[in-house]
Amino acid sequence: MSGEAVSLRITCDADLVAARAEARALAERLGFTRTDATLIATAVSEITRNIIVHAESGDLQMTPLVNDVKYGIEVVATDSGPGIRHPEAALEDGYAGQGGLGLGLPGVRRLVDQFSIQTELDKGTTITLVKWRLRDELERLRERRRR
Ligand SMILES: Nc1ncnc2c1ncn2[C@@H]1O[C@H](COP(=O)(O)OP(=O)(O)OP(=O)(O)O)[C@@H](O)[C@H]1O
Ligand SMILES: [Mg+2]
Repeated sequence: MSGEAVSLRITCDADLVAARAEARALAERLGFTRTDATLIATAVSEITRNIIVHAESGDLQMTPLVNDVKYGIEVVATDSGPGIRHPEAALEDGYAGQGGLGLGLPGVRRLVDQFSIQTELDKGTTITLVKWRLRDELERLRERRRR
């Protein structure tokens, strides 16, 4: 099971398409089911779209995680945009501004195992997501044999 970290600069809709595809590909390389890979790609496209819409540009970093019992994917989205005035409220259903069509941040939080927002007005926002999947016994045996 492998996967290199992926870094993407986000400035336009084409980058959003790339982010979605890279997220899916990395998740599949890490052995997530196609369904989970789709959920991860959806979460990544929501936070990437927020960068484009609310902050104009930013950076996305996707990193494989591994420990004894599970594999994971960590996604960090950073921008130097206006920041989120009420981050707790932004996580409640119904806060999103007019015309919201996506899942919004509350939906993203429901799709992942760990979710955090660091934000400061006029400085920017960093959103970190982690999604885990358990490794089964067979995988662990194979890994041990490979070492
Ligand atoms: N990266 C960001 N920089 C600044 N503000 C942000 C950022 N991401 C989210 N926000 C703020 O948090 C609010 C909630 O975001 P959320 O994604 O839930 O809704 P939305 O983007 O307005 O609509 P949609 O449902 O289409 O995603 C946004 O309306 C915006 O004010
Ligand atoms: Mg949004």
